[in-house]
Amino acid sequence: MPERKRVAILISGRGSNMVALIEAARDPNFPAEIVGVFSNKADAPGLAFAREAGVPTALRSHKDFASREAFDAEICAILAGWNTELVCLAGFMRIFSTGFAANWTGRMLNIHPSLLPAFKGRKPQQQALDAGVTEAGCTVHWVIPELDDGPTILQRTVPVLAGDDEASLSARILAEEHKAYPEALRLVATGAAVYRAD
Ligand code: GRF
Repeated sequence: MPERKRVAILISGRGSNMVALIEAARDPNFPAEIVGVFSNKADAPGLAFAREAGVPTALRSHKDFASREAFDAEICAILAGWNTELVCLAGFMRIFSTGFAANWTGRMLNIHPSLLPAFKGRKPQQQALDAGVTEAGCTVHWVIPELDDGPTILQRTVPVLAGDDEASLSARILAEEHKAYPEALRLVATGAAVYRAD
């Protein structure tokens, strides 16, 4: 079997997508291995799960760094220490410096709970409800310096049902996220999905 891609995951909170990726990578036939989890929040529940799963972790608060560039340089050093080939953002709530994002372009993925380019930014599920759409979903995309932008790798749709509120729609989308992210990582790690600038 070809070597598995070395993947680091960046989180800030719950980490349910991180769990989905770690669990997918437990299969030795999965084409990627999770070599580290980085969090910028000490109380991120995902961090505790990663530790218990035996995945190397690193924790740094952005508040301890003088600038965005200095914090990003530290993340870069940590990723280098893990010999990281690909980065998966999974609820990582920090905006990167342009230099960091440019350095990782083509090697960094994100998941967003909307059918991009619709509903970028915060509370996309509520945005979808407010817009009255009948279909919502999630997008795994390549990360570029612009927020919630970059070429799509994979999308999954769910229906918006009568009576949905933000919580019920978010839960339906999240269930698809947990399938979509490992599938997208599989496509990237096998070379079936390749970054091309839009
Ligand atoms: C997910 O909805 C993801 O799409 C978005 O942030 C949320 C993170 O959830 N970027 P979790 O931490 O993976 O549970």
